[in-house]
Formats: sequence, C-alpha cells, structure tokens
Amino acid sequence: MRETHDREELQAQKPSVFLSRRQFIQLGMAGLGAAWAGTFVQARLFPAQRSSQEAVPVSFPLSELPVGATKTVTFAGVPVIVVRTAVSLKAFSLVCTHLGCLVQWQPGSMEFYCPCHDGRFDQFGEVIAGPPPVPLEEITVTVDGDRVVVGEAV
Ligand code: FES
Repeated sequence: MRETHDREELQAQKPSVFLSRRQFIQLGMAGLGAAWAGTFVQARLFPAQRSSQEAVPVSFPLSELPVGATKTVTFAGVPVIVVRTAVSLKAFSLVCTHLGCLVQWQPGSMEFYCPCHDGRFDQFGEVIAGPPPVPLEEITVTVDGDRVVVGEAV
C-alpha cells in the first residue's frame, strides 16, 4: 500500500514528455515571432532588385489619369499603380512587401489591401496594419508635358 502511494507521488513529480497547453502556445508564438523577424530581415537585406535593362520608363497620356483615378502599368516586369489625387501623383509597386502577393487599391478608403494576410498600406504606401515589414516600393513618376512617365529617375 505504502509502495503504491510512493510510486504515485514520484509519477506526479516527474515532468511530462508532452508540452502543456501554455508551453505549446509559447512555442507557437516564438515560432511566429521568428518567422516575422526573418521576413523583416530578408526584406531589409535583400530588397527586390531590377536590372537597369528591364527598367525602361513607361509613359501614357495624362488625360488617361484624371484626378481621383488610378492607372496600372507594368514597369520592369512588375505591376505598378499610379494614383492621382487632387494634391499628389504617386506610383507604387503592387507587390506586397510581406510575401509578395499583389495588393489591391481600395478607392473608398484610399488604402492598399493585401488579401493574403490582411496587410494594409495607406495612400502613401506606409504600413498601417498586418504583417508587411516595410512600406510599398515607391516608383518615380513625373509629368512631362501631357504625358505621365513612370520609372524615370528625376
Ligand atoms: S503577402 Fe501581403 S500581407 Fe502577407
């Protein structure tokens, strides 16, 4: 009787080989944090590079982009959106800086939305929600006479 009682006490003190729920959650959170940190570091160390041969400026008539409108073009093999507001003309790569999905312009909220992981960027490409580690890549855009030029260095 006493021997059985001692064995039960020993088993109660012996740590389980299985993770407790708390340990499992902590391990999962640590894994997610490590994945996020890895993505951030990768985006900082290895930004998307384009060869200068591919980066030929793209132009189109200014009349195709009235105030409040957007136009999507392909620059250096990447989809780029040009956004014209009453006060600005900006162009951004539509490639999400998290894992490379394509973001969508939402004119109602004036935001970019990435459906892959609910990433959100404001109209200036800055991250406002979700996992993207850095802003959208801004592309140079100018107006030359009656034409909009995307990708030409100023
Ligand atoms: S790829 Fe855009 S939020 Fe993950």
